[in-house]
Amino acid sequence: TVGNSSNIVWHKCSIEKSDRQELLNQKGCVIWITGLSGSGKSTLACALSCALHSRGKLTYILDGDNCRHGLNQDLSFKADDRAENIRRIGEVAKLFADAGVICIASLISPFRKERDACRALLPEGDFIEVYMDVPLQICEERDPKGLYKLARAGKIKGFTGVDDPYEPPLNCEALMYGEEIPRLLVHTVTQPFD
Ligand code: PPS
Repeated sequence: TVGNSSNIVWHKCSIEKSDRQELLNQKGCVIWITGLSGSGKSTLACALSCALHSRGKLTYILDGDNCRHGLNQDLSFKADDRAENIRRIGEVAKLFADAGVICIASLISPFRKERDACRALLPEGDFIEVYMDVPLQICEERDPKGLYKLARAGKIKGFTGVDDPYEPPLNCEALMYGEEIPRLLVHTVTQPFD
């Protein structure tokens, strides 16, 4: 039995991940960017995508906010729904990586357990967790969407960092503060095929 279904069998095709990777001349993987709202996740995701694209690498960004417009439009910001948001994006990211794409997931993903579960979906080394290590105070000063202000005024309940938890990673692959393009990261994901 898989999940809630029984009588389902995995179907294998003769074209595999390795064939797609060879075709694309790159290694499919997931770069998972986690951090508070306003910490610069989406900006970094875009900078990374541009840097890799200009090196001839196929990338795709899965942005939390954007996915909530479609795939995850049925999910709220309650703990269960955030967990499901992370799980779904993790599964989709795995599919992209399997397609040979460098998938950049950018969502708050406040829970360690769910992030670790996404990591466990991929082969060792293919999940690169990047923590935007920006203090709440700075995120709040930036407040690009004015959401912290609303949260402080009690107009948004359960806002991450204000009255909802964020669990920083214990063992991530990279710590980021600014929005500079992380050369080491670019090197790591392009290196196997360059
Ligand atoms: S999560 O926690 O991973 O499910 O969140 P995510 O899918 O990344 O969505 C976060 C963006 O939604 C806006 N928003 C909120 N964030 C946190 N808490 C609450 N309650 C909330 N309500 C709306 C906010 O703009 C987040 O955008 P980013 O890009 O992180 O600033």
